[in-house]
Amino acid sequence: MIFNTFSRLVLNWYHINGRKDLPWQKNKTLYTVWISEVMLQQTQVKTVIPYFKKFILKFPNLNVLSQANLNDILHLWSGLGYYKRAENIYKTAKIIEQKFDGKFPSNITDLVKLPGIGRSTAGAILSFTLNYFFSILDGNVQRILIRHYGLTKCSKNTATQKKLWNLIENITPIHHTGKFNQGIIDIGALICNPRIPKCNFCPLNITCIAYKEKEWKKYSLQKNKKIKSKRKYWFIVIYFKNKIWMQKNTIKSIWNDLFCFPSFNNKKQAEQWIQGHQINIKKYKKISSFNHEFSHFTMQVNPILIKLFFQKFFFDIKKEGIWYDLKKPQKIGLPIIVKKILKLST
Ligand code: ADE
Ligand code: SF4
Repeated sequence: MIFNTFSRLVLNWYHINGRKDLPWQKNKTLYTVWISEVMLQQTQVKTVIPYFKKFILKFPNLNVLSQANLNDILHLWSGLGYYKRAENIYKTAKIIEQKFDGKFPSNITDLVKLPGIGRSTAGAILSFTLNYFFSILDGNVQRILIRHYGLTKCSKNTATQKKLWNLIENITPIHHTGKFNQGIIDIGALICNPRIPKCNFCPLNITCIAYKEKEWKKYSLQKNKKIKSKRKYWFIVIYFKNKIWMQKNTIKSIWNDLFCFPSFNNKKQAEQWIQGHQINIKKYKKISSFNHEFSHFTMQVNPILIKLFFQKFFFDIKKEGIWYDLKKPQKIGLPIIVKKILKLST
């Protein structure tokens, strides 16, 4: 294995074909690159772009962000998923304000201690912003390494991680580290894609073992074969004119601080809740159920639509409910299924 060849191939390819106009590649600061990298952790580039632009417009720097409250951040995050990331951004902003005098840390040791910033994200922040010599190892990079070097028995465990980190740190060039990192991410996203890699266009095809052997499946990260469970939820959508009843923390494990309709694990519970709150029903309608995928389970969503005669409505104040105004929406975080249900119910 000639490591220099690998990085030279990636860099040459990057100069001609690499992405250089993504929104987070302009006017880079540690702060903006941090936000983009966190958004990109579990979300594709084309989805992230509008969210990133909105986020930076609203919170152009750390100082502005640290004055924000969690709801403001969740509001901008609505629909992006993995809301823990937004909470970690909030926590990290507070920590930097308090511990680092509001100055974004530029060393790896401090960075990896911050919520939501792992070794790869820290490496991305420092290499993209300051061209420091740090590697990244996201899913794209892992796939390329495994295929190119023909690695077998790679699964999501610490031994594999260690092996891959060693490998990428040996390959990463000391100069032009940021460009190399962007190049390898771009090759992973644009060429060496998971299902049908475009090896003919790949700068690494001269040395790639998976390509040589035509064995892409053999050289892949073994997934933990867990069958996704299905969980059923009933959601009660209560309308009064243009307003909808929403509560916080309806499903604590996935939507901590987001607002959602009252939710229940079965129909009986939902109906008991309706009776118990003596809801004045003008119209009651079941909407056909649909599935929504989470990384670790499938949610069967069963919406029940209720229109009220009058707004008087007995609710539990502790649950932090609000009347969400569709005409003048409050700035709160909403899970994507809320938008889906609202679309179906109008
Ligand atoms: N994924 C992670 N970081 C990225 C970046 N800087 N550009 C495109 N995709 C990415
Ligand atoms: Fe991936 Fe094909 Fe390139 Fe190998 S040659 S790194 S399999 S795209």
